[in-house]
Amino acid sequence: MSGGGHRIASIPGDGIGVDVTVEARKVLDRAATAFGFGLEWTEFDWSCERYATIGAMMPEDGIEQLRPFDAVLLGAVGFPGVPDHVSLWGLLIPVRRAFAQYVNLRPVRLLPGTTSVLAGRSAEDLEMVIVRENSEGEYSTLGGRHNVGQPGEFALQEAVFTRTGVERIIRYAFELARTRAGRVCSATKSNGIIHTMPFWDEIFAEIAAGYPDVQAEQMHIDALAARMVQQPDRLDVIVASNLFGDILSDLAAAVTGGLGMAPSGNINPERQYPSMFEAVHGSAPDIAGQGIANPVAQVLAGAMMLEQLGEAEAAQAVRVAVEKVLGEGAVRTPDLGGSATTAELGSAIAAAI
Ligand code: NAI
Ligand code: MG
Repeated sequence: MSGGGHRIASIPGDGIGVDVTVEARKVLDRAATAFGFGLEWTEFDWSCERYATIGAMMPEDGIEQLRPFDAVLLGAVGFPGVPDHVSLWGLLIPVRRAFAQYVNLRPVRLLPGTTSVLAGRSAEDLEMVIVRENSEGEYSTLGGRHNVGQPGEFALQEAVFTRTGVERIIRYAFELARTRAGRVCSATKSNGIIHTMPFWDEIFAEIAAGYPDVQAEQMHIDALAARMVQQPDRLDVIVASNLFGDILSDLAAAVTGGLGMAPSGNINPERQYPSMFEAVHGSAPDIAGQGIANPVAQVLAGAMMLEQLGEAEAAQAVRVAVEKVLGEGAVRTPDLGGSATTAELGSAIAAAI
Protein backbone atom coordinates (compact mmCIF):
# COMPACT_ATOMS: atom_id res chain seq x y z
CA MET A 1 0.00 0.00 0.00
CA SER A 2 3.04 2.30 -0.46
CA GLY A 3 2.08 5.81 -1.52
CA GLY A 4 -1.28 5.74 0.25
CA GLY A 5 -2.06 6.99 3.71
CA HIS A 6 -2.85 4.73 6.64
CA ARG A 7 -5.28 6.06 9.25
CA ILE A 8 -3.99 5.28 12.72
CA ALA A 9 -5.83 5.75 16.01
CA SER A 10 -3.34 6.48 18.77
CA ILE A 11 -4.34 5.89 22.41
CA PRO A 12 -1.30 6.82 24.53
CA GLY A 13 -3.22 6.05 27.77
CA ASP A 14 -1.46 6.42 31.10
CA GLY A 15 1.98 6.68 32.66
CA ILE A 16 4.88 5.75 30.42
CA GLY A 17 2.35 4.72 27.76
CA VAL A 18 2.33 8.40 26.83
CA ASP A 19 6.14 8.78 26.78
CA VAL A 20 6.82 5.70 24.67
CA THR A 21 4.01 6.39 22.19
CA VAL A 22 5.50 9.82 21.39
CA GLU A 23 8.78 8.07 20.49
CA ALA A 24 7.07 5.35 18.46
CA ARG A 25 5.29 8.01 16.42
CA LYS A 26 8.59 9.80 15.86
CA VAL A 27 10.19 6.59 14.50
CA LEU A 28 7.17 5.51 12.42
CA ASP A 29 6.78 8.97 10.85
CA ARG A 30 10.47 8.86 9.92
CA ALA A 31 9.97 5.41 8.35
CA ALA A 32 6.87 6.63 6.49
CA THR A 33 8.81 9.55 4.99
CA ALA A 34 11.73 7.29 4.07
CA PHE A 35 9.49 4.73 2.35
CA GLY A 36 7.03 7.14 0.78
CA PHE A 37 3.71 6.46 2.47
CA GLY A 38 1.53 8.50 4.77
CA LEU A 39 0.46 7.97 8.37
CA GLU A 40 -2.56 10.02 9.45
CA TRP A 41 -2.71 10.02 13.22
CA THR A 42 -5.79 10.71 15.33
CA GLU A 43 -5.12 10.85 19.04
CA PHE A 44 -7.62 9.78 21.72
CA ASP A 45 -7.24 10.83 25.38
CA TRP A 46 -8.86 7.65 26.71
CA SER A 47 -7.17 6.87 30.01
CA CYS A 48 -7.45 6.59 33.78
CA GLU A 49 -7.22 10.39 33.90
CA ARG A 50 -10.38 10.55 31.79
CA TYR A 51 -11.96 7.99 34.11
CA ALA A 52 -11.06 10.10 37.15
CA THR A 53 -12.68 13.23 35.69
CA ILE A 54 -15.62 11.87 33.61
CA GLY A 55 -16.13 8.41 35.09
CA ALA A 56 -15.38 6.32 31.98
CA MET A 57 -12.17 5.13 30.33
CA MET A 58 -13.63 5.78 26.87
CA PRO A 59 -16.87 7.23 25.45
CA GLU A 60 -19.85 4.93 25.16
CA ASP A 61 -19.43 4.84 21.38
CA GLY A 62 -15.64 4.39 21.67
CA ILE A 63 -15.63 1.15 19.68
CA GLU A 64 -17.61 2.84 16.87
CA GLN A 65 -15.11 5.70 16.82
CA LEU A 66 -12.20 3.28 16.34
CA ARG A 67 -13.89 1.11 13.70
CA PRO A 68 -12.97 3.21 10.60
CA PHE A 69 -9.23 3.17 11.38
CA ASP A 70 -6.68 0.91 9.68
CA ALA A 71 -4.93 0.16 12.99
CA VAL A 72 -4.70 1.23 16.61
CA LEU A 73 -1.46 2.01 18.47
CA LEU A 74 -2.00 1.75 22.21
CA GLY A 75 0.39 2.89 24.96
CA ALA A 76 -0.71 1.37 28.25
CA VAL A 77 -3.59 1.88 30.61
CA GLY A 78 -3.68 1.69 34.39
CA PHE A 79 -2.80 4.05 37.18
CA PRO A 80 -2.80 4.01 40.98
CA GLY A 81 -6.20 5.11 42.26
CA VAL A 82 -8.13 3.37 39.50
CA PRO A 83 -8.55 -0.37 40.13
CA ASP A 84 -6.83 -2.44 37.41
CA HIS A 85 -10.01 -4.33 36.53
CA VAL A 86 -11.69 -0.99 35.76
CA SER A 87 -8.92 0.22 33.41
CA LEU A 88 -8.55 -3.15 31.73
CA TRP A 89 -12.23 -3.95 31.25
CA GLY A 90 -13.12 -0.32 30.45
CA LEU A 91 -10.86 -0.06 27.40
CA LEU A 92 -8.36 -2.76 26.50
CA ILE A 93 -10.47 -5.90 26.75
CA PRO A 94 -13.60 -4.42 25.04
CA VAL A 95 -11.46 -3.33 22.05
CA ARG A 96 -9.76 -6.72 21.78
CA ARG A 97 -13.14 -8.49 21.83
CA ALA A 98 -15.25 -6.10 19.72
CA PHE A 99 -12.66 -6.25 16.94
CA ALA A 100 -12.19 -10.03 17.17
CA GLN A 101 -8.46 -9.54 17.85
CA TYR A 102 -8.33 -13.13 18.97
CA VAL A 103 -4.62 -13.53 18.32
CA ASN A 104 -2.21 -11.87 20.71
CA LEU A 105 1.16 -12.21 18.98
CA ARG A 106 4.23 -11.66 21.13
CA PRO A 107 7.59 -12.02 19.40
CA VAL A 108 10.55 -12.66 21.69
CA ARG A 109 14.10 -11.91 20.57
CA LEU A 110 17.38 -11.27 22.27
CA LEU A 111 18.39 -7.98 20.66
CA PRO A 112 22.01 -7.03 19.96
CA GLY A 113 23.79 -5.25 22.78
CA THR A 114 21.43 -6.65 25.38
CA THR A 115 22.62 -8.85 28.19
CA SER A 116 20.25 -11.65 29.02
CA VAL A 117 20.04 -13.36 32.37
CA LEU A 118 20.87 -16.32 30.16
CA ALA A 119 24.47 -15.19 29.74
CA GLY A 120 26.30 -16.84 26.84
CA ARG A 121 23.15 -17.14 24.72
CA SER A 122 23.11 -15.29 21.43
CA ALA A 123 20.40 -13.88 19.22
CA GLU A 124 20.11 -17.23 17.34
CA ASP A 125 19.37 -19.18 20.54
CA LEU A 126 16.60 -16.91 21.62
CA GLU A 127 14.01 -16.20 19.01
CA MET A 128 10.47 -17.35 19.61
CA VAL A 129 6.93 -16.10 19.37
CA ILE A 130 4.05 -16.51 21.77
CA VAL A 131 0.60 -16.89 20.24
CA ARG A 132 -1.75 -16.01 23.06
CA GLU A 133 -5.50 -16.62 22.85
CA ASN A 134 -6.93 -13.14 23.32
CA SER A 135 -10.71 -13.34 23.50
CA GLU A 136 -11.84 -15.97 26.01
CA GLY A 137 -10.35 -18.57 28.35
CA GLU A 138 -9.56 -17.67 31.93
CA TYR A 139 -10.34 -13.96 31.45
CA SER A 140 -14.11 -14.07 31.64
CA THR A 141 -16.85 -12.13 33.38
CA LEU A 142 -18.68 -15.29 34.48
CA GLY A 143 -18.78 -15.87 38.18
CA GLY A 144 -19.43 -13.80 41.24
CA ARG A 145 -18.86 -13.04 44.89
CA HIS A 146 -21.21 -14.78 47.27
CA ASN A 147 -22.06 -14.43 50.97
CA VAL A 148 -20.11 -11.18 50.98
CA GLY A 149 -19.00 -10.31 54.50
CA GLN A 150 -20.23 -13.66 55.88
CA PRO A 151 -17.97 -16.38 57.26
CA GLY A 152 -18.91 -18.51 54.25
CA GLU A 153 -17.88 -15.86 51.71
CA PHE A 154 -16.52 -17.19 48.44
CA ALA A 155 -15.64 -16.07 44.91
CA LEU A 156 -16.23 -18.06 41.74
CA GLN A 157 -14.53 -17.35 38.41
CA GLU A 158 -15.40 -19.49 35.40
CA ALA A 159 -13.10 -20.09 32.44
CA VAL A 160 -14.68 -20.29 28.98
CA PHE A 161 -13.11 -22.36 26.19
CA THR A 162 -15.14 -22.64 22.98
CA ARG A 163 -14.32 -25.02 20.12
CA THR A 164 -14.33 -22.09 17.69
CA GLY A 165 -12.01 -20.03 19.89
CA VAL A 166 -9.53 -22.83 20.55
CA GLU A 167 -9.47 -24.10 16.96
CA ARG A 168 -8.78 -20.72 15.39
CA ILE A 169 -5.90 -19.79 17.71
CA ILE A 170 -4.21 -23.19 17.34
CA ARG A 171 -4.65 -23.08 13.58
CA TYR A 172 -3.07 -19.61 13.52
CA ALA A 173 -0.06 -20.99 15.41
CA PHE A 174 0.42 -23.86 12.92
CA GLU A 175 0.15 -21.49 9.96
CA LEU A 176 2.71 -19.20 11.57
CA ALA A 177 5.04 -22.16 12.25
CA ARG A 178 5.08 -22.92 8.52
CA THR A 179 6.61 -19.48 7.92
CA ARG A 180 9.22 -19.99 10.67
CA ALA A 181 11.06 -23.00 12.08
CA GLY A 182 8.18 -25.48 11.61
CA ARG A 183 7.65 -26.22 15.30
CA VAL A 184 4.71 -25.57 17.64
CA CYS A 185 4.61 -26.14 21.39
CA SER A 186 1.24 -26.02 23.14
CA ALA A 187 1.04 -24.84 26.76
CA THR A 188 -1.29 -27.03 28.77
CA LYS A 189 -2.03 -28.02 32.35
CA SER A 190 -4.35 -30.91 31.76
CA ASN A 191 -3.03 -32.72 34.83
CA GLY A 192 -4.50 -30.11 37.18
CA ILE A 193 -7.23 -28.41 35.17
CA ILE A 194 -9.31 -31.37 34.17
CA HIS A 195 -12.07 -30.03 31.90
CA THR A 196 -10.86 -27.12 29.81
CA MET A 197 -7.26 -28.22 29.34
CA PRO A 198 -7.93 -31.78 28.10
CA PHE A 199 -10.40 -30.13 25.67
CA TRP A 200 -7.61 -27.77 24.52
CA ASP A 201 -5.21 -30.74 24.15
CA GLU A 202 -7.73 -32.75 22.09
CA ILE A 203 -8.24 -29.88 19.66
CA PHE A 204 -4.46 -29.35 19.46
CA ALA A 205 -4.02 -33.01 18.47
CA GLU A 206 -6.81 -32.77 15.86
CA ILE A 207 -5.30 -29.71 14.22
CA ALA A 208 -1.74 -31.05 14.44
CA ALA A 209 -2.88 -34.05 12.38
CA GLY A 210 -3.63 -31.65 9.52
CA TYR A 211 -0.06 -30.26 9.60
CA PRO A 212 2.21 -33.30 9.20
CA ASP A 213 5.01 -30.95 8.09
CA VAL A 214 4.98 -29.11 11.44
CA GLN A 215 6.50 -30.66 14.54
CA ALA A 216 3.95 -30.50 17.37
CA GLU A 217 4.48 -31.04 21.07
CA GLN A 218 2.70 -30.07 24.26
CA MET A 219 4.10 -29.24 27.67
CA HIS A 220 2.63 -28.40 31.03
CA ILE A 221 2.90 -24.69 31.64
CA ASP A 222 5.23 -25.07 34.63
CA ALA A 223 7.72 -27.25 32.76
CA LEU A 224 7.44 -24.96 29.75
CA ALA A 225 8.31 -21.96 31.92
CA ALA A 226 11.44 -23.76 33.08
CA ARG A 227 12.40 -24.73 29.53
CA MET A 228 12.04 -21.14 28.40
CA VAL A 229 14.85 -20.25 30.78
CA GLN A 230 17.00 -23.38 30.48
CA GLN A 231 16.67 -24.38 26.82
CA PRO A 232 15.08 -21.48 24.93
CA ASP A 233 16.65 -22.72 21.68
CA ARG A 234 14.22 -25.69 21.75
CA LEU A 235 11.22 -23.35 21.45
CA ASP A 236 9.87 -21.42 18.50
CA VAL A 237 6.10 -20.92 18.18
CA ILE A 238 4.30 -21.32 21.51
CA VAL A 239 0.49 -21.40 21.57
CA ALA A 240 -1.22 -20.73 24.87
CA SER A 241 -4.52 -19.81 26.46
CA ASN A 242 -5.17 -16.23 27.57
CA LEU A 243 -3.78 -16.53 31.10
CA PHE A 244 -0.90 -18.87 30.29
CA GLY A 245 0.15 -16.70 27.33
CA ASP A 246 0.04 -13.59 29.50
CA ILE A 247 2.33 -15.06 32.15
CA LEU A 248 4.73 -16.69 29.66
CA SER A 249 5.20 -13.44 27.77
CA ASP A 250 6.36 -11.52 30.84
CA LEU A 251 8.82 -14.35 31.54
CA ALA A 252 9.98 -14.28 27.93
CA ALA A 253 10.44 -10.52 28.14
CA ALA A 254 12.48 -10.93 31.31
CA VAL A 255 14.93 -13.39 29.72
CA THR A 256 15.48 -11.08 26.74
CA GLY A 257 16.36 -7.96 28.68
CA GLY A 258 13.17 -6.79 30.28
CA LEU A 259 9.70 -5.50 29.62
CA GLY A 260 11.04 -2.40 27.88
CA MET A 261 11.94 -4.56 24.87
CA ALA A 262 8.82 -6.69 24.30
CA PRO A 263 6.21 -5.75 21.65
CA SER A 264 2.76 -7.22 21.15
CA GLY A 265 0.02 -7.24 18.52
CA ASN A 266 -3.72 -7.84 19.03
CA ILE A 267 -4.55 -9.21 15.63
CA ASN A 268 -7.76 -9.81 13.73
CA PRO A 269 -6.38 -12.21 11.09
CA GLU A 270 -9.45 -11.82 8.86
CA ARG A 271 -8.83 -8.03 8.71
CA GLN A 272 -12.51 -7.38 9.29
CA TYR A 273 -11.61 -4.87 12.01
CA PRO A 274 -8.57 -2.78 12.94
CA SER A 275 -5.81 -4.67 14.77
CA MET A 276 -4.21 -3.01 17.80
CA PHE A 277 -0.52 -2.84 18.67
CA GLU A 278 1.02 -2.19 22.08
CA ALA A 279 4.02 -2.99 24.25
CA VAL A 280 3.73 -5.96 26.62
CA HIS A 281 4.49 -3.67 29.57
CA GLY A 282 1.99 -1.53 31.46
CA SER A 283 2.01 2.13 32.49
CA ALA A 284 4.87 1.69 35.01
CA PRO A 285 3.72 4.28 37.58
CA ASP A 286 7.03 3.79 39.43
CA ILE A 287 8.98 5.50 36.63
CA ALA A 288 6.21 7.53 34.94
CA GLY A 289 6.95 11.21 34.28
CA GLN A 290 10.71 10.78 34.66
CA GLY A 291 11.47 10.48 30.95
CA ILE A 292 13.47 7.29 31.42
CA ALA A 293 11.13 4.58 30.07
CA ASN A 294 12.60 2.41 27.34
CA PRO A 295 10.64 3.13 24.12
CA VAL A 296 11.94 0.06 22.21
CA ALA A 297 8.93 -2.17 22.99
CA GLN A 298 6.51 0.45 21.67
CA VAL A 299 8.69 1.16 18.63
CA LEU A 300 8.78 -2.57 17.81
CA ALA A 301 4.99 -2.72 18.31
CA GLY A 302 4.90 0.05 15.71
CA ALA A 303 7.00 -2.11 13.36
CA MET A 304 4.47 -4.95 13.78
CA MET A 305 1.77 -2.42 12.87
CA LEU A 306 3.60 -1.39 9.69
CA GLU A 307 3.92 -5.07 8.75
CA GLN A 308 0.16 -5.56 9.17
CA LEU A 309 -0.47 -2.42 7.07
CA GLY A 310 1.51 -4.00 4.22
CA GLU A 311 4.62 -1.84 4.73
CA ALA A 312 7.01 -4.77 5.21
CA GLU A 313 10.12 -2.90 4.05
CA ALA A 314 9.51 0.02 6.41
CA ALA A 315 8.83 -2.42 9.26
CA GLN A 316 12.12 -4.18 8.60
CA ALA A 317 13.93 -0.80 8.47
CA VAL A 318 12.55 0.07 11.92
CA ARG A 319 13.73 -3.26 13.35
CA VAL A 320 17.16 -2.87 11.79
CA ALA A 321 17.42 0.69 13.18
CA VAL A 322 16.58 -0.63 16.68
CA GLU A 323 19.22 -3.36 16.34
CA LYS A 324 21.81 -0.89 15.07
CA VAL A 325 21.30 1.59 17.92
CA LEU A 326 21.21 -1.12 20.61
CA GLY A 327 24.19 -2.92 19.05
CA GLU A 328 26.28 0.26 19.11
CA GLY A 329 25.36 0.65 22.76
CA ALA A 330 25.96 4.41 23.01
CA VAL A 331 22.33 5.35 23.67
CA ARG A 332 20.66 3.22 26.33
CA THR A 333 17.93 3.88 28.85
CA PRO A 334 18.58 3.03 32.55
CA ASP A 335 16.85 -0.39 32.33
CA LEU A 336 19.59 -1.34 29.82
CA GLY A 337 22.32 -0.01 32.05
CA GLY A 338 22.66 3.39 30.36
CA SER A 339 21.65 6.94 31.19
CA ALA A 340 19.82 8.07 28.05
CA THR A 341 16.28 9.45 28.18
CA THR A 342 13.23 8.03 26.43
CA ALA A 343 13.44 10.84 23.85
CA GLU A 344 17.18 10.37 23.21
CA LEU A 345 16.72 6.68 22.45
CA GLY A 346 13.63 7.37 20.30
CA SER A 347 15.48 10.04 18.32
CA ALA A 348 18.54 7.83 17.86
CA ILE A 349 16.35 5.06 16.39
CA ALA A 350 14.52 7.51 14.12
CA ALA A 351 17.85 8.92 12.92
CA ALA A 352 19.15 5.41 12.13
CA ILE A 353 16.42 4.77 9.57
P1 NAI B 1 4.44 -2.60 34.27
O1 NAI B 1 4.74 -3.32 33.02
O2 NAI B 1 3.82 -1.26 34.10
O3 NAI B 1 5.80 -2.42 35.12
C1 NAI B 1 6.53 -3.53 35.65
C2 NAI B 1 7.99 -3.11 35.95
O4 NAI B 1 8.72 -2.99 34.72
C3 NAI B 1 8.11 -1.75 36.64
O5 NAI B 1 9.15 -1.78 37.58
C4 NAI B 1 8.45 -0.80 35.50
O6 NAI B 1 9.21 0.31 35.89
C5 NAI B 1 9.25 -1.70 34.55
N1 NAI B 1 9.02 -1.27 33.15
C6 NAI B 1 7.91 -1.52 32.40
N2 NAI B 1 8.02 -0.98 31.18
C7 NAI B 1 9.22 -0.37 31.14
C8 NAI B 1 9.91 0.38 30.12
N3 NAI B 1 9.39 0.61 28.93
N4 NAI B 1 11.15 0.87 30.42
C9 NAI B 1 11.71 0.64 31.62
N5 NAI B 1 11.11 -0.05 32.62
C10 NAI B 1 9.88 -0.55 32.38
O7 NAI B 1 3.49 -3.55 35.14
P2 NAI B 1 2.76 -3.31 36.53
O8 NAI B 1 3.61 -2.46 37.42
O9 NAI B 1 2.32 -4.63 36.97
O10 NAI B 1 1.45 -2.49 36.18
C11 NAI B 1 1.35 -1.08 36.22
C12 NAI B 1 0.00 -0.64 35.66
O11 NAI B 1 -0.05 -0.95 34.26
C13 NAI B 1 -1.19 -1.33 36.29
O12 NAI B 1 -2.21 -0.38 36.44
C14 NAI B 1 -1.58 -2.40 35.27
O13 NAI B 1 -2.93 -2.74 35.32
C15 NAI B 1 -1.24 -1.70 33.98
N6 NAI B 1 -0.97 -2.61 32.87
C16 NAI B 1 -1.49 -2.28 31.65
C17 NAI B 1 -1.23 -3.04 30.55
C18 NAI B 1 -1.77 -2.59 29.24
O14 NAI B 1 -2.25 -1.48 29.11
N7 NAI B 1 -1.69 -3.43 28.23
C19 NAI B 1 -0.41 -4.27 30.64
C20 NAI B 1 0.13 -4.51 31.94
C21 NAI B 1 -0.15 -3.71 33.02
MG1 MG C 1 0.71 -9.04 30.88
